[in-house]
Amino acid sequence: MSYNLEQVVHEAAILLRNSKFTTAFTGAGISVESGIPPFRGEEGLWNKYDPRYLEIGFFLAQPEESWKVIKQIFYDFFGEATPNSAHLMLAKMEREGMLHRIITQNIDNLHQEAGSTQVYEFHGNSMKLVCLACFRKSPYREISLEELPPRCPDCQGLLKPDFVFFGEPIPQKPMIAAYDAAGKSDVFLIIGSTGEVMPANQIPPMAKQNGAKIIEINPQESNYTNGITDIFLKGKAGELTSLLGEILFSTPLQND
Ligand code: APR
Repeated sequence: MSYNLEQVVHEAAILLRNSKFTTAFTGAGISVESGIPPFRGEEGLWNKYDPRYLEIGFFLAQPEESWKVIKQIFYDFFGEATPNSAHLMLAKMEREGMLHRIITQNIDNLHQEAGSTQVYEFHGNSMKLVCLACFRKSPYREISLEELPPRCPDCQGLLKPDFVFFGEPIPQKPMIAAYDAAGKSDVFLIIGSTGEVMPANQIPPMAKQNGAKIIEINPQESNYTNGITDIFLKGKAGELTSLLGEILFSTPLQND
């Protein structure tokens, strides 16, 4: 069967238009067009850096070594990234009442900067550093990263980025929001995730189990595509969310 992109985009737009509760589940792929490389795949960060530097045990044992890698990956290059058209489209869909929640695995703050407000960060956020002694949180831009590891301005305790390291628990608020969304979404829009990492990768299957229709945007197949995905929009997030937006916001939909 030939893959008719226009047809599947139209089908996806009808589902989105008729949905009472829609959740977007986003991964690193949605930020690739903002200049932030994904973790896996050809250009993946884990091809260049050993993920063990992001394990909580390693960080606590060798904070200086861990911070050298953290600074390079998350603060030297990517601190200046800005939202791309996919982030902006999701924010517009929220304003138009077509998107009710974003569960993101990303820590780059780009959904919020694009104007989305119902954002739940399954892996935390890189914009703040938290003191492991007094728990004070400081915007990372207020902390010098010349001396590593950085110390708390109040108590000189060890500072850690406020995102979830491997081996750390998922914060309760986004976990509850994600399970709640998986329980009540009519449509679940997966954008740019391999579906490799537990427990985040359990959320889309839970939504499917509860009756959600799964729309997936990804230039490549993921762990979801041949399993739970109902409509696979093969391509980049920016391009496909724009195609969806053209239908959602400009032309009346025939439920043909
Ligand atoms: N548009 C949409 N998707 C894209 C694009 C793009 N322009 N470019 C790449 N992708 C897809 C890739 O095909 C891949 O499926 O984005 C996905 C990126 O996969 P991962 O790097 O594994 O990202 P993610 O699934 O979010 O990883 C989950 O792993 O390392 C941890 O905590 C980290 O949150 C991260 C988690």
